[in-house]
Amino acid sequence: MKVLVIGGGGREHAICYSLKNSNLLTKLYCIPGNGGICEIAEVNQEIKPLEFEKVVEFCKKEGIELVIPGPEEPLVKGIKDALEKEGIKVFGPDTKGAMLEGSKAFAKEVMAEAGVPTAKFEIFDDPDKARAYIEKKGAPIVVKADGLCAGKGVFVCDTKEEAFEAIHKLMEEKIFGASGERVVIEERLDGEEASYIVISDGENFVALPNSQDHKRLLDGDKGPNTGGMGAYSPAPLITEELKQKIENKVISPIIKTLLKKGNPYVGFLYAGLMITNGEPFVLEFNCRLGDPEAQAILPRIENDFLELVKIAIDGKLKDVSLVEKSDAAVCVVMASSGYPGKYEKGKKITGIKEAEKIPGVIVFHAGTKKIDGDVVTNGGRVLGVTALDEDIPSAIKKAYEAVSKIHFEGAYYRKDIGHKAFKHL
Ligand code: AMP
Ligand code: GLY
Repeated sequence: MKVLVIGGGGREHAICYSLKNSNLLTKLYCIPGNGGICEIAEVNQEIKPLEFEKVVEFCKKEGIELVIPGPEEPLVKGIKDALEKEGIKVFGPDTKGAMLEGSKAFAKEVMAEAGVPTAKFEIFDDPDKARAYIEKKGAPIVVKADGLCAGKGVFVCDTKEEAFEAIHKLMEEKIFGASGERVVIEERLDGEEASYIVISDGENFVALPNSQDHKRLLDGDKGPNTGGMGAYSPAPLITEELKQKIENKVISPIIKTLLKKGNPYVGFLYAGLMITNGEPFVLEFNCRLGDPEAQAILPRIENDFLELVKIAIDGKLKDVSLVEKSDAAVCVVMASSGYPGKYEKGKKITGIKEAEKIPGVIVFHAGTKKIDGDVVTNGGRVLGVTALDEDIPSAIKKAYEAVSKIHFEGAYYRKDIGHKAFKHL
């Protein structure tokens, strides 16, 4: 089977890596790919991921039967609708399903209908009414832009003034354009965050290995939010009992509700959770795999990944069980100095091959490109260095040993990835 992956980050490299191990794969393509993906897939950088007509044309020319979009934007903008019309299968939800991520207000409405635990909320289109609500509720309080803002549309506010500022920026200054014209205002939840990702066939689901991300830039979960500075799997915070609660109170009701509404959800479904006093509350849904969670989760799956995706598309997940490797995985993200703000590109990277000589280490590329045989930096998050070992402490040690072999000017990484797990071990 010929498969096309859309995207060029660490998550997409991890998807390509898993596909490459499948017996069902005959040829792998990626648009646009990166400096690591180009080693295992045929990359095409002429076509942009959102130029759906050109993607269709490319698939027809190459005989590609299945497309797996990595990021949310192509899904929210309708890649499935555009390609399936032409007979090309897409693993992911259609525009309706992708609204779980594309519109926080829609996600909240579905959660309310499905009875899924989440922070109490109100939705506003009018900044004055939003301010009056904040005045009434007081702080702490959370203000969220309804639409996609590249992960920057959430303001967790300690004071009412910060919340008013967020309303002004989103609804009046419109720093994220139309995405901030409507806002969700919700109560702040306290607890520990975890990611729970499943593959859904519209009716049934299988849970992927669970994981925990490190969203903040600095050690000790300080500093600004980023796309994610590292992840580990499994997350010992998620006990068997909590897993059952998450599946029964969150995942199952959402999938059932969407099916009942005539919109079966097929694809990866990511629940961003706050665990408060042993109970799961949904902070957000994503219609894709997490990045860098994928770099810790996918290498732990024993099943043939492409077969799993095919079974989900065929609606037959009921008969499948996921086989999880007993090894733990830790992924440390190496970023460009300045990320998540401004950073320079084009720095030569050395030591990747040396790092990969360590058994159990996989170096996933994110913002990299290849120039004349050299790999150079080409983005904020540059590499995701994943190590597998018998438990989390050994995987952490191995991941940092691998990181120490890799060099580029301005390389920055957190030194405490995985440490959050210790208190649960
Ligand atoms: P979201 O994109 O909705 O997941 O929000 C981004 C981040 O903001 C989350 O990962 C949390 O760290 C934080 N956050 C979002 N909603 C809440 C909430 N209701 N209470 C506390 N923190 C939140
Ligand atoms: N790492 C968080 C996300 O992918 O949304």
